[in-house]
Amino acid sequence: MEAGSRVLWRRYLALLFLILLPFCSALSSRSARDAEEAPTTSYAGAQLLRVNASTPEQKDAIRRLEESGDVDLWSGIVSHKKTVDVMVKSDKVQDVKQKLRKIRAEYAIVINNLQDAIQKENPVLSEAEMLLLEGRKGHRMTWHSYHRVSDMHGYMDFLAQTYPRLCSVMTIGSSVEGRPLKVLKISPAGSTGKKAIWIDGGIHAREWISPASVSFALKELVENHDMHFNGKESTLGSLDWYFLPIANPDGYEHSHSQDRLWRKNRHDAHKGSCAGTDLNRNFGYRWGGAGSSRDPCREIYAGRNAFSEPETAAISNFVKSKGQSVKAYITFHSYGQYILYPWGYDRKVPPDYRDLNSVGQKIAQAIRSVGGGSYTVGSSAATLYPASGGSDDWAKGSARIKYTYTIELRDTGRYGFILPAEYIIPSGNEALAALKVVGEAASQEP
Ligand code: ARG
Ligand code: ZN
Repeated sequence: MEAGSRVLWRRYLALLFLILLPFCSALSSRSARDAEEAPTTSYAGAQLLRVNASTPEQKDAIRRLEESGDVDLWSGIVSHKKTVDVMVKSDKVQDVKQKLRKIRAEYAIVINNLQDAIQKENPVLSEAEMLLLEGRKGHRMTWHSYHRVSDMHGYMDFLAQTYPRLCSVMTIGSSVEGRPLKVLKISPAGSTGKKAIWIDGGIHAREWISPASVSFALKELVENHDMHFNGKESTLGSLDWYFLPIANPDGYEHSHSQDRLWRKNRHDAHKGSCAGTDLNRNFGYRWGGAGSSRDPCREIYAGRNAFSEPETAAISNFVKSKGQSVKAYITFHSYGQYILYPWGYDRKVPPDYRDLNSVGQKIAQAIRSVGGGSYTVGSSAATLYPASGGSDDWAKGSARIKYTYTIELRDTGRYGFILPAEYIIPSGNEALAALKVVGEAASQEP
């Protein structure tokens, strides 16, 4: 075929596709949407309450409500805060409100019907729109909606194939249900004997903004590589960057298909007993201490023993295999807008906390200057609440990584975990700004 007629032919096909598109999407969007929008567990009538709990007695009473399973404490009971975000399922709403009146704790209803919020949070593309996107870009990833594991992993493979001199994909282990734990390594050309930085997201399944923001940051660093690495003073190119955007793929899929508010992994999911270990209580530094539980039915169940879960074991084995080259460890969670450094198991701080605090303040400043939100900087246990077995404490205490942070992304409680997808890009820019600050600090370490 001649070149000219080939162009015409292609135009003709494109036109035909565009004409047929509305028909395809009418047919296929239904099934795509049904699959996404019909998790088995319904939160119809469930509410998010912001409860005023200023006295220790009120805080204790709320703690007891949580232990008895009447409520889920979305925010935890934060030391210096006068309010607690409390999620109540519909069958308990009246009962819980009455108990709150009894302890004279005032409350506001932040989300009146959780199921409505869940339905609005994530506009899903139709299969036809997806195909068009895939044809144009070579992958199905966007930052306008929350995507499933397969789209995100597909995007990582796409990056490795498209930018083979800059990045590669490796699988560092697999989840309880056998999903790969995929890491994207960005290794800007040049220096050898590199220092490294580790970034993970999605340790907690329901914190969807975390994998979305981490994948936004890695997209920026790879696809706009020159802009981020080749600035005059930038030393970011001297690092190897390891990204694990979805550390808990089973839990993440479960939070899409079954229960939007699932937090843990899927250990023992088909045994009839309570399922799941809290991966952020399963790391092996001061494992099993304050703020974790031995009860498999609790959201903060620490697991049978330290690193009993393949997800945490894979992270620890991989990071340790990089030895002392790893200078920074950043783990993204939501929500609350905090920049937290160790320790989490206790309200003490490590000897070099001044360095951690000053880089933490720089992160908060960088986030403000990209037009982001306001983030609070401090040590985990003192700023939030004590919780043992976190990845951050392990990174600092066992792997001896200097710049270790847990970053709690948006928001401060308006939507909590059900953050609408339109916040992915603003939040992703905050994550990127944070990574650049920590990357600079890490690259200056001896
Ligand atoms: N929201 C996080 C959690 O509950 C905070 C973790 C902070 N780090 C820590 N080691 N406590 O897991
Ligand atoms: Zn979390």
